[in-house]
Amino acid sequence: MLKRWFSRRSTFQGVLEGKAFTLAAGETVLESALKAGVALPYNCQVGSCKSCLCRVVSGEVRSLVDLGYLLSAEDIAAGHVLACQCLPQSDLTLMSAAVATNWVPAQIKQATPLSSRVWRITLSPEQAMPFLPGQFLQLCHQPGADVRSYSVSWPSNAWEIVVDVTLREQGRVSPLLCDQDSVGRTLWVSGCSGRFGQADDGKGPLLAIASGSGLGTTLGLVRAALARNPYRAVMLVHAIRKRQDKFDVAELQRLQQQHEGFHYLHALSQENEGKQHELVGRFTSWLEEWRSLYPYQKYGLETRDWRAVICGNPGLAQACQRGLLASGVLARHIQTDCFSPAGTEEKISNNKELVC
Ligand code: FES
Repeated sequence: MLKRWFSRRSTFQGVLEGKAFTLAAGETVLESALKAGVALPYNCQVGSCKSCLCRVVSGEVRSLVDLGYLLSAEDIAAGHVLACQCLPQSDLTLMSAAVATNWVPAQIKQATPLSSRVWRITLSPEQAMPFLPGQFLQLCHQPGADVRSYSVSWPSNAWEIVVDVTLREQGRVSPLLCDQDSVGRTLWVSGCSGRFGQADDGKGPLLAIASGSGLGTTLGLVRAALARNPYRAVMLVHAIRKRQDKFDVAELQRLQQQHEGFHYLHALSQENEGKQHELVGRFTSWLEEWRSLYPYQKYGLETRDWRAVICGNPGLAQACQRGLLASGVLARHIQTDCFSPAGTEEKISNNKELVC
């Protein structure tokens, strides 16, 4: 035992796309790579955003998280790991997913402002990009450059991928996208991935909460849920600051007209008076009474039967998650997809942070 302890190595040799660096035994692969100045895309560093996805070409790592919850069976079988969540167990040869991924050129076909802060960008990829509602794609100006992740918005199809982007004046990427002059520019996109919303079993009523640009993704999940069961009880809440921040209202109205169990609300944190379909104040201040906001009580719904999907900034998502759990919604029925907070685009490599 003592002999084995002393024989443990404290460092290993790492090679990432031909660049050699030292891996410390007690550090994650990402930590060692960053210390050595090796460019490896990353974002959340908590195992959620998948920006640091790597393929282990040779060697062994120990994952700190159960990858079965985070990656597809195909990814795991192909040797993919999350660099921020694994420790080296031997010398390693790695390939970052940014290189391993098939990047596809995609032209910006449309760039349309939806509100004062959110733009809808339509990309026309050179090959079909099938996706599931709730998934996200990666985008960069050229392979090897900074990578950003954006959730797929509801108007997408395999040949026209739509993403809703929050304009951050100080950001490095969003000002280039949120600009009508960007139309015609070619970017590079990777295939859609992620599992947000896919654990919905379609059985109970659905509470969908979105903040800001998260509405497009949330609408994708709601539309899929109603396509599966047109009579399902669904309440969608869009948390925004002001009335002028609303978008996709026509689609919300259409769903309300076509599905008798569908109800939507806007939670307006910076308005003093509410009209029809509006709540005044942050949605988090309504959490204790969220059940009473659903008007069709004839459905006789039990709190424990509700499913919830929450897509937006981490503060709102975490508060909603806590509030729903406290009210009796089961943890296994809550799915969250958190974006990075506004203003952090300079600091992190992705705009999206799946941290909850
Ligand atoms: S940086 Fe590793 S999963 Fe986000």
